[in-house]
Amino acid sequence: MMKGILLAGGSGTRLAPLTAALSKQLLPVYNKPLIYYPLSTLMLANVRDILIISTPRDTPVIERLLGDGSHLGLKLSYAVQERPNGIAEAFLIAEDFCAGKPVCLILGDNVFHSQDLLRVLKQATRPGQGATVIACHVSNPSAYGVVTLDSAGRPVDLVEKPANPASNWVVAGLYFYDSAVHSIVRNLRPSERGELEITDVNRAYLREGRLNVITMGRGTAWFDAGTFENLLLAGQFVQMLELRQGLMVGLPEEVAYRMRFISAEDLAALAGRMKNSPLGDYLFSILK
Ligand code: G1P
Repeated sequence: MMKGILLAGGSGTRLAPLTAALSKQLLPVYNKPLIYYPLSTLMLANVRDILIISTPRDTPVIERLLGDGSHLGLKLSYAVQERPNGIAEAFLIAEDFCAGKPVCLILGDNVFHSQDLLRVLKQATRPGQGATVIACHVSNPSAYGVVTLDSAGRPVDLVEKPANPASNWVVAGLYFYDSAVHSIVRNLRPSERGELEITDVNRAYLREGRLNVITMGRGTAWFDAGTFENLLLAGQFVQMLELRQGLMVGLPEEVAYRMRFISAEDLAALAGRMKNSPLGDYLFSILK
């Protein structure tokens, strides 16, 4: 079974003063804390054994929110990243946790919503694949890791935050690796910004011909809610969809039930805990 890492680190300086006292991943995206969305994505990938990594300040608060995960049919554990040394450091911190198993990493500020998502997650979690990353088409590729694909959709180049991007396809914060990832990270040098770069990990797989890229189709919503604008846009997107469809986006309690991690009785108990909130009403309505 694939392991999961949810990286909720970073100092969130681009969101000051919102993050002066609170973790970015606990800020609201409409009606849920941001971290609910990436957690739901991991659950949809059928990943249930998850290590949550955050800062010394924020890890205890995130643990207060999510606990050991048993109420969601999950096994959640926690680890601290002492300093913002880069995304790839997660694999040094999580090496014992992963115990040689394949692992999926999701960034705690990444919100995915797509008709395409289940297909993509199924494909990406198939065993024996090296590394698999998800590419999304965006209007501002320079803010991300940019991937160049050949006509067959195979990656030929990958560059972190290029000034002159070669394409509009960028690598989203959802990555799937085999157990080689730990030794690759051990051999990495920090980049100019002093971080162990996830893009350098992916470039190592690319050099070995072991990097797969899955492109998400049109109609995909992907936000990295790390700026005021994206945080609000993500919230507006969720609000619009939920009001129109009457279906919730990124609610782990619902995902746990639909994935059969918990029973109807379990869900009723969770709904009861939120009975004064519209989310509680919603969970009760699913059971009818
Ligand atoms: C990081 C990665 C980048 C990726 C992005 C996705 O960027 O370095 O390659 O496209 O996450 O959210 P950062 O959040 O460090 O700016």
